Amino acid sequence: MPYANASADTALSQPITINTLRKMKAEGDKFVTVALYDAPMAAMARKSGVEVLLVGDSLGMTVLGYDSTIPVTMEQMIYHVEAVKRGNNKSLIMGDMPFMTYATAEQAMVNATRIMQAGAHMVKIEGGAWLADTVRMLGECGIPVCAHLGLTPQSVNKFGGFRVQGRDQAQAEQILEDAKLLDRAGADLLVLECVPNALAAKVTAAVSMPTIGIGAGRDTNAQVLVINDILGLTPQPPKFSKNFLVEAEDIPGALRKYVADVKAGMFPDESHTFG
Ligand code: KIV
Repeated sequence: MPYANASADTALSQPITINTLRKMKAEGDKFVTVALYDAPMAAMARKSGVEVLLVGDSLGMTVLGYDSTIPVTMEQMIYHVEAVKRGNNKSLIMGDMPFMTYATAEQAMVNATRIMQAGAHMVKIEGGAWLADTVRMLGECGIPVCAHLGLTPQSVNKFGGFRVQGRDQAQAEQILEDAKLLDRAGADLLVLECVPNALAAKVTAAVSMPTIGIGAGRDTNAQVLVINDILGLTPQPPKFSKNFLVEAEDIPGALRKYVADVKAGMFPDESHTFG
């Protein structure tokens, strides 16, 4: 039996859309995102009430063994978006666009079309003001966009490592301005990665789109973690992550605990947050 139809016993009974997430932001309800890459995990996420699935290019590091996300290709992304789609017909699926596949608006149109046709409901791209026209153009063509600011892993070589961003005032102001610009351009969601808690709170209050934090404190509208971190599979886990399997009996239990802790405002706590 296909994973997507495997059980009526599901926490998500209705498909999640961008409208669901906007309403949750308006009503102050947190939603939950997991970066994952295959059908069985996608099916478990649906049963555990995970609203958004990110087929992240983190798969280059978590699944394929590269030391960054830069080698990930469109073909690899499409393969994994298709797998996740087969596993879950309720959560909203975001597909990451790989390094240099959206360097121009025209390239973005061609490659985002392929990710959407593989089954994603939205694409995610990393970067600030330079992407405003791309976001606008994709939106006009019916392709929702999740922007990604702060530590954008495709720029790891420019940053000189995986480092917290937005700690100095100039950088913080830049991130806030980029977020506002992308919001005005029509971005639908915003991932904020590894930025100080106070900055993430300020951005979240300043934009109409829902924000999803990872290493950005608890004041964003949602949280995202990578499935490998949730399940304790990462050899040197980042400070912002948490192994939820140690407090659960099995994988669905770990996902349920993550969902419950985010919604109750218990995850992340101070120990997962950057000042
Ligand atoms: O690729 C990914 O999984 C991501 C998240 C860490 C936000 O971009």
